[in-house]
Amino acid sequence: MQNKGSRQIVMSGIRPTGFLHLGNYFGAVRNYVRMQDEYHCFFMVADLHSLTTHPDTKELSTNVKRVLAENIASGLDPDKVALYCQSHVHETGELYLYLNMLAYKGELEKTTTFKDKVRLQPDNANAGLLTYPVLQAADILMHRATLVPVGKDQEQHLEMSRNFANRFNHRYGEIFPEPYAFNFGEQLVKVPSLDGAGKMSKSENQYATLYLSDTDDLIRKKVMKAKTDSGPTERNSSKPDYIDNLFQLMNLVSEKDTISKFETDYDNCNIRYGDMKKQLAEDMVRFISPIREKVESILSDERYLKNVMEKGAEKARVSARETMKLVREAMGLKYY
Ligand code: TRP
Repeated sequence: MQNKGSRQIVMSGIRPTGFLHLGNYFGAVRNYVRMQDEYHCFFMVADLHSLTTHPDTKELSTNVKRVLAENIASGLDPDKVALYCQSHVHETGELYLYLNMLAYKGELEKTTTFKDKVRLQPDNANAGLLTYPVLQAADILMHRATLVPVGKDQEQHLEMSRNFANRFNHRYGEIFPEPYAFNFGEQLVKVPSLDGAGKMSKSENQYATLYLSDTDDLIRKKVMKAKTDSGPTERNSSKPDYIDNLFQLMNLVSEKDTISKFETDYDNCNIRYGDMKKQLAEDMVRFISPIREKVESILSDERYLKNVMEKGAEKARVSARETMKLVREAMGLKYY
């Protein structure tokens, strides 16, 4: 066994597509932060995966640094977890190669994310896109992780990781445990969008999404633009979606007393949405601005970031070397 104590191993990858929003923060990063004390965690910036869709690497370095800084500013502690870049662990390329021999063209072609991406970039249906789930499996199996905190959209990739692990184990011997999607289930909070429709996401409507990088004024502007109406006319009536969303956002960042004041006003039909939005805006500013400032200070410290990357890569490599030694031996790639 690996020398990782009795803690279960958590592994996840973060795409370096820049700029975290509030949905990412409450949906993913906050969970990572909670896991770091209880589990042996590997959190990786998936820079190689990004080449399947973004072959132009002009902005890669900036994006990688931002994603690291945003995760650290949100509470991820590089001393507690292995926080590293995928491209710094060269063993990943090797495991990816071996796993590719166990992955079938048919199953790769019918993967939902592959079909979606080919539709989006028909002129660049590259083999990296086809074998994206194999690279992801290599990331996870490399650390023999069993818990993978990811969203619903990654379930199919995890199922494929389990299949590749089982095929390997069956053919060459038991090396890999099965990885499963993992999160704090019922405690996951929904972060609604500011335009009253759906979740906060990287939407076309930039005003509907709050980013950790937004300035105080931009936060205020976005919140004040949120849709409201002239208010309820009957006591204790149910809330339309767009109003309910504002209350849900308040629940994330405002004081209990503040929320109950506006709840009561709503129920009594004397709510003033202008005041409510002003309050929500100030509470959002109070929540986001310290994170934004921390991100900026981390980004301005090149030495610190270099150190984080080096330390993280070394932790990941120690684990990777152990696994690859077992893998090569199990496969019979050892001739003397
Ligand atoms: N495919 C994941 C995404 O799109 C990113 C990722 C890469 C990942 N490697 C991983 C997630 C390993 C979990 C485990 O978000």
